[in-house]
Amino acid sequence: MTRTLTTPLYYVNDRPHLGSAYTTLACDALARFWRLRGDEVLFITGCDEHGQKIQRTAEAAGLSPQAHCDAVSAQYRELWQRWQISNDRLIRTTDPRHRRIVEQFFARVEASGDIVEGRQQGWYCVACEEFKDDPHEAQDPECPIHRRPLEWRDEVNLFFRLSRYQQQIEALISQPGFIQPPSRRNEVENFVRQGLRDFSISRVNLPWGIPVPGHEGHTFYVWFDALLGYITALLTEADAPDLDTALARGWPASVHVIGKDILRFHAVYWPAMLLSAGLPLPEKVFGHGFLTREGQKMGKSLGNVLDPAELLERCGRDAVRWYLLRDIPFGEDGDFQQQRFSDLVNNDLANTIGNLLNRTSSMARKWFAEAVPPAGAACSSDHPLAEAASQATATVIASLDQLDFRGAAEATLQLAIAANGFLNEQAPWSRMKQEGSRDQVGADLYAVLETARIVALLLTPLLPDLSGRMLQQLGQEQPGSAAGTATAANWIEQLSWGGLVPAAPLPEPSPVMARLELDGPL
Ligand code: MSP
Repeated sequence: MTRTLTTPLYYVNDRPHLGSAYTTLACDALARFWRLRGDEVLFITGCDEHGQKIQRTAEAAGLSPQAHCDAVSAQYRELWQRWQISNDRLIRTTDPRHRRIVEQFFARVEASGDIVEGRQQGWYCVACEEFKDDPHEAQDPECPIHRRPLEWRDEVNLFFRLSRYQQQIEALISQPGFIQPPSRRNEVENFVRQGLRDFSISRVNLPWGIPVPGHEGHTFYVWFDALLGYITALLTEADAPDLDTALARGWPASVHVIGKDILRFHAVYWPAMLLSAGLPLPEKVFGHGFLTREGQKMGKSLGNVLDPAELLERCGRDAVRWYLLRDIPFGEDGDFQQQRFSDLVNNDLANTIGNLLNRTSSMARKWFAEAVPPAGAACSSDHPLAEAASQATATVIASLDQLDFRGAAEATLQLAIAANGFLNEQAPWSRMKQEGSRDQVGADLYAVLETARIVALLLTPLLPDLSGRMLQQLGQEQPGSAAGTATAANWIEQLSWGGLVPAAPLPEPSPVMARLELDGPL
Protein backbone atom coordinates (compact mmCIF):
# COMPACT_ATOMS: atom_id res chain seq x y z
CA MET A 1 0.00 0.00 0.00
CA THR A 2 1.23 3.46 -0.87
CA ARG A 3 1.59 6.03 1.89
CA THR A 4 0.98 9.54 0.65
CA LEU A 5 2.20 12.61 2.45
CA THR A 6 1.90 16.21 1.37
CA THR A 7 3.31 19.63 2.08
CA PRO A 8 0.98 22.56 1.45
CA LEU A 9 0.99 23.74 -2.13
CA TYR A 10 2.84 27.02 -1.83
CA TYR A 11 1.51 30.28 -3.20
CA VAL A 12 3.74 31.63 -5.91
CA ASN A 13 3.11 35.25 -5.01
CA ASP A 14 6.63 35.53 -3.68
CA ARG A 15 9.94 33.72 -3.51
CA PRO A 16 10.13 30.69 -1.21
CA HIS A 17 10.82 31.63 2.41
CA LEU A 18 12.04 29.73 5.41
CA GLY A 19 8.50 28.89 6.51
CA SER A 20 7.91 26.90 3.32
CA ALA A 21 11.33 25.30 3.54
CA TYR A 22 10.59 24.26 7.12
CA THR A 23 7.48 22.24 6.25
CA THR A 24 9.17 20.70 3.24
CA LEU A 25 12.26 19.65 5.23
CA ALA A 26 10.12 18.02 7.88
CA CYS A 27 8.13 16.15 5.25
CA ASP A 28 11.34 15.08 3.59
CA ALA A 29 12.58 13.56 6.85
CA LEU A 30 9.28 11.74 7.26
CA ALA A 31 9.26 10.47 3.67
CA ARG A 32 12.81 9.19 4.03
CA PHE A 33 11.92 7.47 7.28
CA TRP A 34 8.92 5.73 5.76
CA ARG A 35 10.94 4.57 2.77
CA LEU A 36 13.71 3.25 4.98
CA ARG A 37 11.14 1.34 6.95
CA GLY A 38 9.99 -0.31 3.74
CA ASP A 39 6.87 1.66 2.85
CA GLU A 40 6.01 2.65 -0.66
CA VAL A 41 5.80 6.42 -0.43
CA LEU A 42 4.35 9.24 -2.50
CA PHE A 43 5.74 12.51 -1.24
CA ILE A 44 3.87 15.41 -2.75
CA THR A 45 4.71 19.07 -2.80
CA GLY A 46 3.78 21.79 -5.23
CA CYS A 47 2.66 25.28 -6.05
CA ASP A 48 -0.71 26.96 -5.72
CA GLU A 49 -0.88 29.29 -8.70
CA HIS A 50 -4.39 30.67 -9.11
CA GLY A 51 -6.38 33.41 -7.41
CA GLN A 52 -6.47 37.09 -6.94
CA LYS A 53 -3.28 37.38 -4.95
CA ILE A 54 -1.23 35.81 -7.73
CA GLN A 55 -3.04 37.79 -10.42
CA ARG A 56 -2.29 41.06 -8.64
CA THR A 57 1.32 40.17 -7.99
CA ALA A 58 1.83 39.37 -11.65
CA GLU A 59 0.17 42.61 -12.71
CA ALA A 60 2.38 44.59 -10.36
CA ALA A 61 5.43 42.92 -11.88
CA GLY A 62 4.17 43.67 -15.39
CA LEU A 63 3.99 39.97 -16.25
CA SER A 64 1.22 37.71 -17.44
CA PRO A 65 0.04 35.52 -14.54
CA GLN A 66 1.33 32.43 -16.33
CA ALA A 67 4.79 33.92 -16.92
CA HIS A 68 4.91 34.98 -13.29
CA CYS A 69 3.88 31.51 -12.07
CA ASP A 70 6.42 29.84 -14.35
CA ALA A 71 9.19 31.99 -12.92
CA VAL A 72 8.33 31.53 -9.23
CA SER A 73 7.50 27.83 -9.43
CA ALA A 74 10.89 27.33 -11.11
CA GLN A 75 12.45 28.89 -8.01
CA TYR A 76 10.64 26.37 -5.83
CA ARG A 77 11.72 23.50 -8.04
CA GLU A 78 15.30 24.65 -7.92
CA LEU A 79 15.25 25.19 -4.17
CA TRP A 80 13.96 21.70 -3.50
CA GLN A 81 16.61 20.27 -5.77
CA ARG A 82 19.34 22.15 -3.96
CA TRP A 83 18.00 21.00 -0.62
CA GLN A 84 17.86 17.45 -2.01
CA ILE A 85 14.23 17.12 -1.08
CA SER A 86 13.09 13.63 -2.00
CA ASN A 87 9.66 14.63 -3.28
CA ASP A 88 8.08 12.28 -5.81
CA ARG A 89 5.82 14.96 -7.26
CA LEU A 90 5.77 18.70 -7.69
CA ILE A 91 2.28 19.64 -8.75
CA ARG A 92 1.47 23.03 -10.23
CA THR A 93 -2.20 23.94 -10.15
CA THR A 94 -1.83 25.54 -13.59
CA ASP A 95 -1.05 22.09 -15.01
CA PRO A 96 -3.78 21.52 -17.64
CA ARG A 97 -4.42 18.06 -16.19
CA HIS A 98 -5.36 19.63 -12.90
CA ARG A 99 -8.20 21.48 -14.56
CA ARG A 100 -9.65 18.15 -15.73
CA ILE A 101 -9.46 16.70 -12.21
CA VAL A 102 -11.13 19.75 -10.70
CA GLU A 103 -13.94 19.54 -13.26
CA GLN A 104 -14.56 15.87 -12.55
CA PHE A 105 -14.53 16.41 -8.82
CA PHE A 106 -16.89 19.37 -9.09
CA ALA A 107 -19.29 17.26 -11.17
CA ARG A 108 -19.51 14.77 -8.30
CA VAL A 109 -20.08 17.46 -5.70
CA GLU A 110 -22.73 19.11 -7.85
CA ALA A 111 -24.42 15.75 -8.41
CA SER A 112 -24.64 15.35 -4.63
CA GLY A 113 -26.74 18.50 -4.54
CA ASP A 114 -24.11 20.41 -2.62
CA ILE A 115 -23.72 23.38 -4.95
CA VAL A 116 -26.13 26.28 -4.66
CA GLU A 117 -26.12 29.90 -5.78
CA GLY A 118 -25.92 32.51 -3.10
CA ARG A 119 -24.93 36.02 -2.29
CA GLN A 120 -21.56 36.51 -0.68
CA GLN A 121 -21.07 39.61 1.37
CA GLY A 122 -18.12 40.12 3.64
CA TRP A 123 -14.63 41.30 4.32
CA TYR A 124 -11.97 39.54 2.31
CA CYS A 125 -8.22 39.28 2.83
CA VAL A 126 -6.50 38.82 -0.50
CA ALA A 127 -3.24 37.76 1.16
CA CYS A 128 -5.07 34.96 3.03
CA GLU A 129 -7.47 34.43 0.11
CA GLU A 130 -10.15 34.09 2.76
CA PHE A 131 -13.28 35.83 4.06
CA LYS A 132 -12.80 36.99 7.63
CA ASP A 133 -15.80 36.13 9.76
CA ASP A 134 -15.84 38.93 12.26
CA PRO A 135 -13.37 41.71 11.65
CA HIS A 136 -12.55 43.28 15.00
CA GLU A 137 -12.79 46.89 13.92
CA ALA A 138 -15.99 48.02 12.30
CA GLN A 139 -14.21 50.75 10.36
CA ASP A 140 -11.32 50.07 7.98
CA PRO A 141 -10.84 46.54 9.26
CA GLU A 142 -7.56 44.85 8.63
CA CYS A 143 -6.39 41.26 8.49
CA PRO A 144 -5.02 40.19 11.89
CA ILE A 145 -2.37 38.08 10.16
CA HIS A 146 -1.25 40.38 7.38
CA ARG A 147 -2.10 43.73 8.93
CA ARG A 148 -3.45 44.85 5.59
CA PRO A 149 -6.86 46.38 4.90
CA LEU A 150 -9.66 43.93 4.22
CA GLU A 151 -11.72 44.42 1.06
CA TRP A 152 -15.52 44.50 1.06
CA ARG A 153 -17.09 41.97 -1.30
CA ASP A 154 -20.67 41.63 -2.38
CA GLU A 155 -21.25 39.19 -5.21
CA VAL A 156 -23.32 36.28 -6.35
CA ASN A 157 -21.26 33.13 -6.06
CA LEU A 158 -21.65 29.40 -6.02
CA PHE A 159 -21.70 27.99 -2.53
CA PHE A 160 -20.70 24.62 -1.22
CA ARG A 161 -23.21 23.33 1.34
CA LEU A 162 -20.78 22.82 4.16
CA SER A 163 -23.61 23.12 6.69
CA ARG A 164 -24.87 19.69 5.65
CA TYR A 165 -21.69 18.11 6.99
CA GLN A 166 -21.83 19.46 10.53
CA GLN A 167 -22.27 16.10 12.21
CA GLN A 168 -19.81 14.21 10.10
CA ILE A 169 -17.13 16.85 10.61
CA GLU A 170 -17.77 16.91 14.35
CA ALA A 171 -17.35 13.15 14.46
CA LEU A 172 -14.20 13.34 12.35
CA ILE A 173 -12.40 15.96 14.38
CA SER A 174 -13.27 14.24 17.63
CA GLN A 175 -11.23 11.23 16.49
CA PRO A 176 -8.05 11.50 18.54
CA GLY A 177 -5.59 10.92 15.72
CA PHE A 178 -7.09 13.12 13.02
CA ILE A 179 -5.82 16.55 14.03
CA GLN A 180 -2.25 16.55 15.28
CA PRO A 181 -0.75 17.68 17.53
CA PRO A 182 -3.71 17.36 19.93
CA SER A 183 -3.18 20.95 21.12
CA ARG A 184 -4.46 22.18 17.76
CA ARG A 185 -7.76 20.36 18.02
CA ASN A 186 -9.48 22.83 20.31
CA GLU A 187 -9.30 25.67 17.89
CA VAL A 188 -10.98 23.67 15.15
CA GLU A 189 -13.56 22.27 17.55
CA ASN A 190 -14.53 25.78 18.61
CA PHE A 191 -14.93 26.83 15.02
CA VAL A 192 -17.09 23.83 14.17
CA ARG A 193 -19.17 24.17 17.31
CA GLN A 194 -20.28 27.63 16.22
CA GLY A 195 -22.07 25.93 13.32
CA LEU A 196 -20.66 25.38 9.87
CA ARG A 197 -21.75 27.86 7.26
CA ASP A 198 -21.84 27.23 3.53
CA PHE A 199 -18.84 28.77 1.83
CA SER A 200 -18.45 30.24 -1.61
CA ILE A 201 -16.39 28.21 -4.00
CA SER A 202 -16.47 30.48 -7.03
CA ARG A 203 -15.58 34.03 -7.94
CA VAL A 204 -16.92 36.28 -10.64
CA ASN A 205 -14.69 38.77 -12.46
CA LEU A 206 -11.58 36.79 -11.61
CA PRO A 207 -10.07 35.55 -14.83
CA TRP A 208 -7.02 33.91 -13.19
CA GLY A 209 -8.69 30.71 -12.13
CA ILE A 210 -10.22 27.50 -13.46
CA PRO A 211 -13.62 28.15 -15.10
CA VAL A 212 -16.54 26.45 -13.35
CA PRO A 213 -18.17 24.13 -15.90
CA GLY A 214 -21.78 25.05 -16.62
CA HIS A 215 -21.58 28.37 -14.75
CA GLU A 216 -20.39 31.00 -17.13
CA GLY A 217 -18.44 33.88 -15.67
CA HIS A 218 -17.42 31.92 -12.57
CA THR A 219 -13.96 30.67 -11.79
CA PHE A 220 -13.18 28.38 -8.87
CA TYR A 221 -12.19 29.92 -5.57
CA VAL A 222 -8.48 29.30 -5.26
CA TRP A 223 -8.79 27.03 -2.19
CA PHE A 224 -11.33 24.74 -3.87
CA ASP A 225 -8.92 24.22 -6.73
CA ALA A 226 -5.76 24.10 -4.61
CA LEU A 227 -6.84 21.32 -2.24
CA LEU A 228 -7.58 19.16 -5.23
CA GLY A 229 -3.97 19.59 -6.26
CA TYR A 230 -3.20 16.86 -3.73
CA ILE A 231 -5.22 14.46 -5.89
CA THR A 232 -3.96 15.62 -9.29
CA ALA A 233 -0.44 15.16 -7.95
CA LEU A 234 -1.06 11.45 -7.59
CA LEU A 235 -1.11 11.02 -11.37
CA THR A 236 2.04 9.73 -13.02
CA GLU A 237 3.38 11.43 -16.16
CA ALA A 238 1.82 8.72 -18.29
CA ASP A 239 -1.63 8.74 -16.67
CA ALA A 240 -4.66 10.26 -18.35
CA PRO A 241 -6.19 13.07 -16.27
CA ASP A 242 -8.86 10.89 -14.76
CA LEU A 243 -10.03 11.28 -11.16
CA ASP A 244 -10.38 7.56 -10.44
CA THR A 245 -6.97 6.83 -11.90
CA ALA A 246 -5.43 9.48 -9.68
CA LEU A 247 -7.20 8.17 -6.59
CA ALA A 248 -6.04 4.64 -7.23
CA ARG A 249 -2.42 5.82 -7.17
CA GLY A 250 -2.38 6.69 -3.49
CA TRP A 251 -5.54 8.06 -1.97
CA PRO A 252 -6.33 8.70 0.85
CA ALA A 253 -3.31 10.63 2.04
CA SER A 254 -1.71 9.36 5.23
CA VAL A 255 -0.92 12.86 6.37
CA HIS A 256 -1.22 16.46 5.23
CA VAL A 257 1.52 18.46 6.91
CA ILE A 258 0.61 22.16 7.06
CA GLY A 259 1.15 25.33 9.05
CA LYS A 260 -1.35 26.11 11.79
CA ASP A 261 -2.86 29.02 9.83
CA ILE A 262 -4.43 26.73 7.23
CA LEU A 263 -5.77 24.08 9.55
CA ARG A 264 -9.41 24.99 9.03
CA PHE A 265 -9.16 24.44 5.30
CA HIS A 266 -7.61 21.01 5.78
CA ALA A 267 -9.52 19.74 8.79
CA VAL A 268 -12.99 21.07 7.92
CA TYR A 269 -13.52 22.29 4.35
CA TRP A 270 -11.46 19.63 2.64
CA PRO A 271 -12.97 16.61 4.42
CA ALA A 272 -16.46 17.98 3.73
CA MET A 273 -15.64 18.37 0.03
CA LEU A 274 -14.36 14.81 -0.05
CA LEU A 275 -17.42 13.48 1.75
CA SER A 276 -19.62 15.25 -0.76
CA ALA A 277 -17.75 13.62 -3.63
CA GLY A 278 -17.97 10.25 -1.90
CA LEU A 279 -14.22 9.93 -1.44
CA PRO A 280 -12.16 8.63 1.47
CA LEU A 281 -10.74 11.11 3.97
CA PRO A 282 -7.08 11.74 4.79
CA GLU A 283 -5.93 9.92 7.91
CA LYS A 284 -4.26 12.83 9.61
CA VAL A 285 -3.70 16.57 9.39
CA PHE A 286 -0.62 17.81 11.20
CA GLY A 287 -0.49 21.56 11.87
CA HIS A 288 2.98 22.78 12.77
CA GLY A 289 3.85 26.10 14.37
CA PHE A 290 5.27 29.31 13.01
CA LEU A 291 8.90 30.34 12.85
CA THR A 292 9.94 33.70 14.14
CA ARG A 293 13.41 35.19 14.04
CA GLU A 294 15.11 36.44 17.19
CA GLY A 295 11.63 36.82 18.67
CA GLN A 296 10.14 38.79 15.78
CA LYS A 297 7.77 37.76 13.04
CA MET A 298 9.68 37.35 9.78
CA GLY A 299 8.50 39.82 7.21
CA LYS A 300 9.66 41.89 4.31
CA SER A 301 8.80 45.12 6.09
CA LEU A 302 11.07 44.19 9.00
CA GLY A 303 13.78 43.17 6.57
CA ASN A 304 14.51 40.05 8.63
CA VAL A 305 13.37 37.31 6.27
CA LEU A 306 15.71 34.35 6.08
CA ASP A 307 16.20 33.31 2.51
CA PRO A 308 16.38 29.50 2.47
CA ALA A 309 18.63 29.46 -0.60
CA GLU A 310 21.14 31.79 1.01
CA LEU A 311 20.98 29.94 4.29
CA LEU A 312 21.81 26.74 2.51
CA GLU A 313 24.68 28.38 0.62
CA ARG A 314 26.27 29.72 3.78
CA CYS A 315 25.56 26.96 6.27
CA GLY A 316 24.95 23.74 4.37
CA ARG A 317 22.08 21.31 4.42
CA ASP A 318 23.02 19.37 7.55
CA ALA A 319 23.30 22.44 9.75
CA VAL A 320 19.93 23.90 8.80
CA ARG A 321 18.07 20.61 8.90
CA TRP A 322 19.55 19.77 12.28
CA TYR A 323 18.68 23.09 13.83
CA LEU A 324 15.10 23.18 12.57
CA LEU A 325 14.31 19.57 13.33
CA ARG A 326 16.24 19.21 16.57
CA ASP A 327 15.48 22.49 18.27
CA ILE A 328 11.85 23.23 17.52
CA PRO A 329 9.22 20.82 18.79
CA PHE A 330 7.27 20.05 15.63
CA GLY A 331 3.83 21.46 16.19
CA GLU A 332 4.89 24.41 18.33
CA ASP A 333 6.11 27.84 17.32
CA GLY A 334 9.85 28.20 17.12
CA ASP A 335 12.31 31.04 17.13
CA PHE A 336 15.34 31.11 14.86
CA GLN A 337 18.30 32.40 16.85
CA GLN A 338 21.60 32.62 15.11
CA GLN A 339 23.77 32.05 18.19
CA ARG A 340 21.82 29.01 19.24
CA PHE A 341 21.89 27.74 15.66
CA SER A 342 25.68 27.76 15.45
CA ASP A 343 26.07 26.49 19.03
CA LEU A 344 23.87 23.47 18.39
CA VAL A 345 25.48 22.64 15.10
CA ASN A 346 28.97 22.91 16.54
CA ASN A 347 28.27 21.12 19.82
CA ASP A 348 26.04 18.35 18.56
CA LEU A 349 27.24 17.66 15.07
CA ALA A 350 30.87 18.78 14.91
CA ASN A 351 31.90 17.93 18.49
CA THR A 352 29.70 15.20 19.86
CA ILE A 353 28.95 13.20 16.73
CA GLY A 354 31.72 14.17 14.29
CA ASN A 355 34.61 13.98 16.75
CA LEU A 356 33.43 10.72 18.21
CA LEU A 357 33.78 9.07 14.86
CA ASN A 358 37.01 10.77 13.90
CA ARG A 359 38.96 10.13 17.02
CA THR A 360 37.80 6.54 17.36
CA SER A 361 38.51 5.71 13.79
CA SER A 362 41.99 7.29 14.04
CA MET A 363 42.85 5.13 17.05
CA ALA A 364 41.47 2.00 15.44
CA ARG A 365 43.45 2.59 12.28
CA LYS A 366 46.64 3.30 14.18
CA TRP A 367 46.54 0.25 16.41
CA PHE A 368 44.62 -2.24 14.31
CA ALA A 369 46.15 -2.09 10.84
CA GLU A 370 43.81 0.54 9.42
CA ALA A 371 40.84 -1.74 9.98
CA VAL A 372 37.89 -2.43 12.24
CA PRO A 373 39.30 -4.01 15.43
CA PRO A 374 38.26 -7.49 16.56
CA ALA A 375 34.96 -7.21 18.40
CA GLY A 376 35.83 -9.53 21.27
CA ALA A 377 33.62 -8.81 24.27
CA ALA A 378 31.80 -6.07 22.34
CA CYS A 379 29.99 -8.74 20.31
CA SER A 380 27.48 -9.25 23.03
CA SER A 381 24.14 -7.56 22.94
CA ASP A 382 24.55 -7.06 26.70
CA HIS A 383 27.30 -4.55 26.08
CA PRO A 384 26.22 -1.22 27.60
CA LEU A 385 26.52 0.53 24.26
CA ALA A 386 24.57 -2.23 22.52
CA GLU A 387 21.78 -1.69 25.02
CA ALA A 388 21.93 2.08 24.61
CA ALA A 389 21.82 1.68 20.83
CA SER A 390 18.81 -0.58 20.93
CA GLN A 391 16.95 1.82 23.21
CA ALA A 392 17.85 4.80 21.04
CA THR A 393 16.67 2.94 17.94
CA ALA A 394 13.30 2.19 19.51
CA THR A 395 12.91 5.82 20.58
CA VAL A 396 13.88 7.20 17.17
CA ILE A 397 11.40 4.96 15.38
CA ALA A 398 8.57 5.73 17.81
CA SER A 399 9.31 9.46 17.62
CA LEU A 400 9.44 9.63 13.85
CA ASP A 401 6.16 7.74 13.71
CA GLN A 402 4.63 10.63 15.64
CA LEU A 403 6.42 13.31 13.56
CA ASP A 404 8.41 14.10 16.66
CA PHE A 405 11.62 15.01 14.89
CA ARG A 406 13.07 16.59 17.99
CA GLY A 407 12.55 13.41 19.98
CA ALA A 408 14.34 11.43 17.28
CA ALA A 409 17.24 13.89 17.10
CA GLU A 410 17.64 13.96 20.86
CA ALA A 411 17.64 10.19 21.21
CA THR A 412 20.31 9.95 18.51
CA LEU A 413 22.40 12.63 20.15
CA GLN A 414 22.11 10.92 23.54
CA LEU A 415 23.47 7.75 22.03
CA ALA A 416 26.50 9.63 20.73
CA ILE A 417 26.92 11.24 24.16
CA ALA A 418 26.83 7.79 25.76
CA ALA A 419 29.52 6.57 23.37
CA ASN A 420 31.72 9.57 24.15
CA GLY A 421 31.27 8.90 27.86
CA PHE A 422 32.21 5.25 27.41
CA LEU A 423 35.30 6.19 25.44
CA ASN A 424 36.43 8.66 28.08
CA GLU A 425 35.89 6.12 30.85
CA GLN A 426 37.75 3.35 29.08
CA ALA A 427 40.47 5.74 27.90
CA PRO A 428 41.93 3.39 25.30
CA TRP A 429 44.78 5.87 24.72
CA SER A 430 46.14 5.11 28.23
CA ARG A 431 45.11 1.50 28.34
CA MET A 432 46.93 0.80 25.10
CA LYS A 433 50.16 1.55 26.94
CA GLN A 434 49.52 -1.26 29.41
CA GLU A 435 50.66 -4.70 28.46
CA GLY A 436 48.03 -7.34 27.68
CA SER A 437 45.20 -4.90 27.14
CA ARG A 438 45.08 -5.00 23.39
CA ASP A 439 41.95 -7.18 23.28
CA GLN A 440 40.15 -4.88 25.64
CA VAL A 441 41.13 -1.80 23.64
CA GLY A 442 40.02 -3.50 20.43
CA ALA A 443 36.66 -4.39 21.93
CA ASP A 444 36.14 -0.87 23.28
CA LEU A 445 36.99 0.74 19.98
CA TYR A 446 34.78 -1.72 18.15
CA ALA A 447 31.86 -0.86 20.46
CA VAL A 448 32.27 2.85 19.88
CA LEU A 449 32.66 2.50 16.12
CA GLU A 450 29.62 0.28 16.03
CA THR A 451 27.67 2.88 17.99
CA ALA A 452 28.81 5.56 15.54
CA ARG A 453 27.51 3.37 12.72
CA ILE A 454 24.12 3.14 14.39
CA VAL A 455 24.11 6.89 15.06
CA ALA A 456 24.77 7.43 11.36
CA LEU A 457 21.93 5.12 10.37
CA LEU A 458 19.54 6.77 12.79
CA LEU A 459 20.48 10.10 11.25
CA THR A 460 19.68 8.95 7.71
CA PRO A 461 16.14 10.39 7.54
CA LEU A 462 17.06 13.61 9.34
CA LEU A 463 20.51 14.36 7.93
CA PRO A 464 21.07 12.19 4.87
CA ASP A 465 24.30 13.99 3.93
CA LEU A 466 26.09 13.75 7.26
CA SER A 467 24.88 10.21 7.70
CA GLY A 468 26.31 9.30 4.30
CA ARG A 469 29.71 10.80 5.14
CA MET A 470 29.80 8.98 8.47
CA LEU A 471 28.95 5.65 6.93
CA GLN A 472 31.53 6.18 4.26
CA GLN A 473 34.16 6.79 6.95
CA LEU A 474 33.16 3.48 8.45
CA GLY A 475 33.52 1.75 5.11
CA GLN A 476 29.74 1.26 4.88
CA GLU A 477 27.16 2.06 2.27
CA GLN A 478 24.25 4.31 3.05
CA PRO A 479 20.86 2.66 2.64
CA GLY A 480 18.92 4.20 -0.26
CA SER A 481 20.52 7.59 -0.24
CA ALA A 482 19.80 9.32 -3.53
CA ALA A 483 17.08 11.96 -3.43
CA GLY A 484 13.79 10.76 -4.83
CA THR A 485 14.95 7.21 -5.27
CA ALA A 486 15.55 6.19 -1.70
CA THR A 487 14.12 2.76 -1.14
CA ALA A 488 14.00 0.41 1.78
CA ALA A 489 17.42 -1.10 2.06
CA ASN A 490 16.94 -3.28 5.13
CA TRP A 491 17.51 -0.27 7.36
CA ILE A 492 15.81 -1.90 10.29
CA GLU A 493 18.03 -4.99 9.98
CA GLN A 494 21.12 -2.87 9.69
CA LEU A 495 20.22 -1.14 12.90
CA SER A 496 20.92 -4.25 14.91
CA TRP A 497 24.15 -4.46 16.88
CA GLY A 498 27.19 -6.04 15.32
CA GLY A 499 27.05 -4.83 11.75
CA LEU A 500 30.68 -3.75 11.50
CA VAL A 501 32.88 -6.55 10.26
CA PRO A 502 36.17 -6.92 12.14
CA ALA A 503 39.25 -6.52 9.92
CA ALA A 504 37.26 -4.63 7.26
CA PRO A 505 39.35 -1.65 6.11
CA LEU A 506 38.63 1.76 7.63
CA PRO A 507 39.13 4.66 5.24
CA GLU A 508 41.45 7.50 6.18
CA PRO A 509 39.51 9.77 8.56
CA SER A 510 38.61 13.29 7.61
CA PRO A 511 36.25 15.51 9.60
CA VAL A 512 32.67 14.61 8.72
CA MET A 513 31.18 17.87 9.96
CA ALA A 514 32.85 21.26 9.65
CA ARG A 515 32.24 23.79 12.40
CA LEU A 516 29.90 26.59 11.52
CA GLU A 517 31.78 29.88 11.72
CA LEU A 518 29.37 32.63 10.74
CA ASP A 519 30.95 35.95 10.04
CA GLY A 520 28.17 38.44 10.54
CA PRO A 521 24.42 38.05 10.72
CA LEU A 522 22.56 35.74 8.37
N1 MSP B 1 -1.44 28.05 -0.94
C1 MSP B 1 -1.82 27.83 0.41
C2 MSP B 1 -1.82 26.36 0.74
C3 MSP B 1 -2.70 25.53 -0.14
S1 MSP B 1 -2.59 23.84 0.26
C4 MSP B 1 -3.66 23.09 -0.75
C5 MSP B 1 -0.86 28.57 1.34
N2 MSP B 1 0.32 28.86 0.84
S2 MSP B 1 1.45 29.72 1.59
O1 MSP B 1 2.56 29.74 0.69
O2 MSP B 1 0.94 30.99 1.99
O3 MSP B 1 1.80 29.01 2.90
C6 MSP B 1 2.33 27.74 2.85
C7 MSP B 1 2.71 27.24 4.20
O4 MSP B 1 3.76 28.01 4.77
C8 MSP B 1 1.55 27.28 5.19
O5 MSP B 1 1.45 26.00 5.79
C9 MSP B 1 1.99 28.28 6.21
O6 MSP B 1 1.56 27.92 7.48
C10 MSP B 1 3.49 28.16 6.13
N3 MSP B 1 4.17 29.32 6.68
C11 MSP B 1 4.11 30.61 6.26
N4 MSP B 1 4.88 31.37 7.07
C12 MSP B 1 5.45 30.59 8.03
C13 MSP B 1 6.37 30.80 9.06
N5 MSP B 1 6.87 31.98 9.36
N6 MSP B 1 6.77 29.70 9.77
C14 MSP B 1 6.34 28.44 9.46
N7 MSP B 1 5.49 28.21 8.48
C15 MSP B 1 4.94 29.28 7.83
O7 MSP B 1 -1.22 28.83 2.48
